[in-house]
Amino acid sequence: MKILVTGGAGFIGSNFIYHMLREHPEDTIVCADKLTYAGNAETLGNAAKHPSFTFYRADISVSRAVEEIFSREKPDAVVNFAAESHVDRSIAHPSVFLKTNVLGVQTLLDACRRHGVARFHQVSTDEVYGDLPIGRRDLFFTEDTPLKASSPYSASKASADLLAGAYFRTYGVPVTISRCSNNYGPYHFPEKLIPLAITNILRGKPVPVYGTGENVRDWLYVEDHCAAIDAILRRGVPGRVYNVGGHNERSNLQVVRAVISLLGKGEIEFVCDRAGHDLRYAIDPSRMERELGWKGSVPFEEGLSRTVEWFLANRQWWEHILDGSYRKYNREFYGANS
Ligand SMILES: NC(=O)c1ccc[n+]([C@@H]2O[C@H](COP(=O)([O-])OP(=O)(O)OC[C@H]3O[C@@H](n4cnc5c(N)ncnc54)[C@H](O)[C@@H]3O)[C@@H](O)[C@H]2O)c1
Repeated sequence: MKILVTGGAGFIGSNFIYHMLREHPEDTIVCADKLTYAGNAETLGNAAKHPSFTFYRADISVSRAVEEIFSREKPDAVVNFAAESHVDRSIAHPSVFLKTNVLGVQTLLDACRRHGVARFHQVSTDEVYGDLPIGRRDLFFTEDTPLKASSPYSASKASADLLAGAYFRTYGVPVTISRCSNNYGPYHFPEKLIPLAITNILRGKPVPVYGTGENVRDWLYVEDHCAAIDAILRRGVPGRVYNVGGHNERSNLQVVRAVISLLGKGEIEFVCDRAGHDLRYAIDPSRMERELGWKGSVPFEEGLSRTVEWFLANRQWWEHILDGSYRKYNREFYGANS
């Protein structure tokens, strides 16, 4: 199978590429990524040495660029990770979120339709469901929970999900959608909570925590997410949505305190709360478990410890992001187009 992975130079996409190269050496991986501030060519350094891996620098919202890749590579399946993914940035600058996360998905769906691609998988998020009350630990998001986005980011992801569903129903494009909870692990961009906490503490800076830190997220180690998408790609049913989560609910404060405890040092700085801040996310992943035999396998404490070890062992990777030198590497290595 030849799989086009869009957004593969980001956090989850790169982990997925390494998962696929390791687990399915018979498959061929084509990666297309715009290399925005969140895309890092250094992350794909080892994949680039692999004979079954090809990279294109391309914007998923530019139909000519997308068409060129589809015509040349003729992928059997597309897995779309490409997105603007940071909620705070969406509050400051919504329009690029609509361009990439909605129009980009439409462009990919149109290309899949034209080329008769056997599967389009849209990587979505639990944030499309809005939030749940903190005090109701009995409530979870199921695939039938109505969409109720809170931020421009989650609104753009919800729009993409609706579009993908419409292309399945109207044109018969074989679409699957996964809605996953918060991920963490290697190659996580240091603007997000866990890598921000680790890298701030290692540089002697306090860790900013929104409000009182009571907001709850349901954490999943990134490798478990990659295995879930792999299972959906192989055994999932077109037209179906799959919730992905591991029942690892923690408040932001608990998460930061756990990082401080693993590193043996660190200060917390409470900062003004995020506008529209969702209170609690909690996924019911029973469809994945029942229908596809997938189950999250990494307990939060173990995954967090592995993540901290990874950031300690790969200091150069995140220092290149923080000092901006990774952008120079992106330009030099993947220059204009390939
Ligand atoms: N991080 C999470 O906790 C989480 C949880 C659930 C779902 N998701 C979803 O998973 C996907 C990947 O998330 P992530 O955390 O790896 O994001 P990320 O920000 O780390 O990576 C996004 C990648 O997309 C690329 N990209 C952005 N705009 C593009 C465009 N127009 N054309 C081509 N490439 C473009 C970037 O260069 C980057 O490599 C996103 O769709 C996100 O909504 C993320």
